[in-house]
Amino acid sequence: MTPTAVFISGTGTNLQALIDHWRSGNAAYDLKLVVSNIAGVAGLQKAQAAGLKTQVLSHKDFADKESFDRVLDQTLREQGIELVALAGFMRLLSPWFVRTWAGKLVNIHPSLLPAFTGLQTHQKAIDYGVRYSGCSVIFVDEGVDSGAIIEQAVVPVLPDDTAQTLAARILVEEHRIFPLALDEVARGRVALLAGRVVRKTI
Ligand code: GRF
Repeated sequence: MTPTAVFISGTGTNLQALIDHWRSGNAAYDLKLVVSNIAGVAGLQKAQAAGLKTQVLSHKDFADKESFDRVLDQTLREQGIELVALAGFMRLLSPWFVRTWAGKLVNIHPSLLPAFTGLQTHQKAIDYGVRYSGCSVIFVDEGVDSGAIIEQAVVPVLPDDTAQTLAARILVEEHRIFPLALDEVARGRVALLAGRVVRKTI
């Protein structure tokens, strides 16, 4: 199993989905560490309840993005981590970190990329008037939500949706596809090659 860390900043429902799949005994990733850049968030309690090692690294304690990311990198190496899942981690990582972990850094985003990158994705989808939105699991690159797509799920946008109701419907699919996509990467069945996803069919 691939030693894996999860980075969070908040509630951690995606973290919980990763924990549940890992605990089922069918996962190819082995959860070793949860890092939060914010102290006291609910996701840290979920990690601790699962018996996972946790670490709070506040970006506010560092002079700049890269010095924060260097400590993150050092922490991962000390724990023998080979794969990192960003599960609601609300910080952009430096180009240096992203390059260092290319192909091993996976993020979940609540839209059908390349549509609606960045924040307030659900409101953007409603305002645009799309009939379908969804979620995407990607390899992180140096852009904002621009990495190669590993997996996606489609969710209808209903006439009376608010950002909250749409987010809740999409979150169900996030929890379904994130563990499966992370598994595919951990098994080496999906890899990043020259900025594109390569899938092994056997
Ligand atoms: C999710 O919608 C994720 O796609 C986005 O932030 C939200 C985090 O939710 N990046 P949670 O902390 O996993 O509950």
